[in-house]
Amino acid sequence: MDDLTRSFTDWFKERVAEKEQLTIALSGGSTPKKLFDYWASLPKGEIDWRKVKFFWGDERCVPPSDEESNYRMTRERLFDHVPVPKENIFRIQGESDVEAEAVRYGALLDRELDSISGTPVFDIMMLGMGDDGHTASIFPREMALWDSEKNCVPATHPVSGQKRVSVTGKIINASRHVVFLVTGENKAEKVKEIFEHPGETRKKYPAARVQPGSGNLVWFMDQQAAGKLDNK
Ligand code: 6PG
Repeated sequence: MDDLTRSFTDWFKERVAEKEQLTIALSGGSTPKKLFDYWASLPKGEIDWRKVKFFWGDERCVPPSDEESNYRMTRERLFDHVPVPKENIFRIQGESDVEAEAVRYGALLDRELDSISGTPVFDIMMLGMGDDGHTASIFPREMALWDSEKNCVPATHPVSGQKRVSVTGKIINASRHVVFLVTGENKAEKVKEIFEHPGETRKKYPAARVQPGSGNLVWFMDQQAAGKLDNK
């Protein structure tokens, strides 16, 4: 088991222990796969999954059976192995029209989450970061989406053109805790740039705009992703 998976899991267990019910927005892509495999391997009862409500920070606009689907990846690696009540899983419907689904999911967040000053609040926002500095599905070329007043927006992958539904900066920064899970050599340059030049990078990388009002922001990284930081 790698240190990142273990330390994040220890951190997550503390959060679950703190509350009767906990809401988490999951990130997608490949980084969470090892984490979910680990959670699936934990002894029965080590985490009381009945206390956790699962949402997503973003989803690809593909059917839930598609290999690109963040929901499918999570179901295969986690939900098929641990007793999460079906009613605790709130997937973004990637098979729907992107505009309609952004509206639907945004309204679902208003309904299902606590809110502070009218903004839905997740207990945990789990984020990855692309090597271009995107997070959730807010990409540098669509930086304006970060500042949308909406809870969720339609977004577009800059290379593939794939449509996405993503939460916005308003939702991310309203979260009680924001955690980045970032692994791999290909992220190291961007991590260094964001950590060492926060002011400049805030203008160009969505990941650099993550500044939760709660102040609770933790970066969980492996040696490769943190490899270019001085004080690693
Ligand atoms: C997605 C993610 C996205 C991801 C980054 C990092 O749907 O792809 O939510 O924001 O976290 O692209 O992806 P990797 O973990 O695959 O590097």
